[in-house]
Amino acid sequence: MDVRARYLARIGSHNELEAMGNRIAELPENPLILGGGSNILFTKNVDGWVFKNEISGMEIIGEDNDHVYVKTGAGENWHRFVLFCIENNLAGAENLSLIPGNTGASPMQNIGAYGVELKDIFYELEAWHIKDKAWVKFSNADCHFGYRESVFKKKYKGQFIISSVTFKLDKKPVFHISYGAIEQELEKMGVRELNIRSIADAVIRIRSSKLPDPALIGNAGSFFKNPEITDLQFDELKKKYPGIVGYTLPDNKVKLAAGWMIEQAGWKGFREGNAGCHEKQALVLVNYGHATGTDIFNLSEKILKDVSEKFGVLMEREVNIY
Ligand code: EPU
Repeated sequence: MDVRARYLARIGSHNELEAMGNRIAELPENPLILGGGSNILFTKNVDGWVFKNEISGMEIIGEDNDHVYVKTGAGENWHRFVLFCIENNLAGAENLSLIPGNTGASPMQNIGAYGVELKDIFYELEAWHIKDKAWVKFSNADCHFGYRESVFKKKYKGQFIISSVTFKLDKKPVFHISYGAIEQELEKMGVRELNIRSIADAVIRIRSSKLPDPALIGNAGSFFKNPEITDLQFDELKKKYPGIVGYTLPDNKVKLAAGWMIEQAGWKGFREGNAGCHEKQALVLVNYGHATGTDIFNLSEKILKDVSEKFGVLMEREVNIY
């Protein structure tokens, strides 16, 4: 998206953020904090301040019998962190390979893929409270992680700037390959002995084959969340649509594959001007050229409405809209 910010500041370090604290607190409106920018759709210019989080650094800060703790600056690239773990033989992050964006944004929406979520390896984070001008530490429990959710998207939205995230990795790997596609990919690759690198390679291959690279074609990953419904609702839908895809959750809930519904509704590969629904993964909306944020947003509205009319299920957007 071609959008402009009236003012832009780059935050280069923890100390720099603290030094800017008084001035940030005095701004008429809370600034927009940008990480890698990979999960936001801009529908307009930013009239005020954008703070781009560029706090770097990645180091092992401790260990116990079973775990190693890695602290990263919030502006570190996520996949670089995953590779750091693999190179140091630290397990837990491999299923989360190749997710775009920065480590500091990962707790915001509890990023997840192929059976693993950030909360499984998250230890703690440090964040600056804009109005109180104070540092606050958040443990795993403090973040109230849910499916693509955390306190930072809800109760504390816009209030904190995350400066570092510390992860807790396993010395002894626990492999998560139950997600069908991983097992198939490992087989295709001829992998006989499982290790974290082969799992990362499998995930990278699957992602590259289905998800468009944001560096080449504008997209923000899954545009919608997979909606949760009750098992009774699911049984009803299943009668009507025997092929419907759902995953059983605790508490009599089922998570529906939104991509399946969008595809069945005929949107997969749809293109309207430069805005489109990706041809290989219907959950992803793409910008083929100079689509505006509003073009993409309007397409998402149409898809939401259509899926709700056809399946009686209300989906939610996963990306942040500005
Ligand atoms: N499906 C279709 N048609 C499609 C897309 C999916 O029928 O066009 C069906 C598939 O056949 C499969 C099911 O839906 O049975 C699930 O598809 P997939 O494994 O591709 O995953 P997803 O549910 O569409 C979620 C995450 C992704 C993550 C993958 C893998 C959300 C919103 N998205 O997608 O995360 O990579 O699982 O774990 O939960 C992201 O958040 O940006 C993201 C890419």
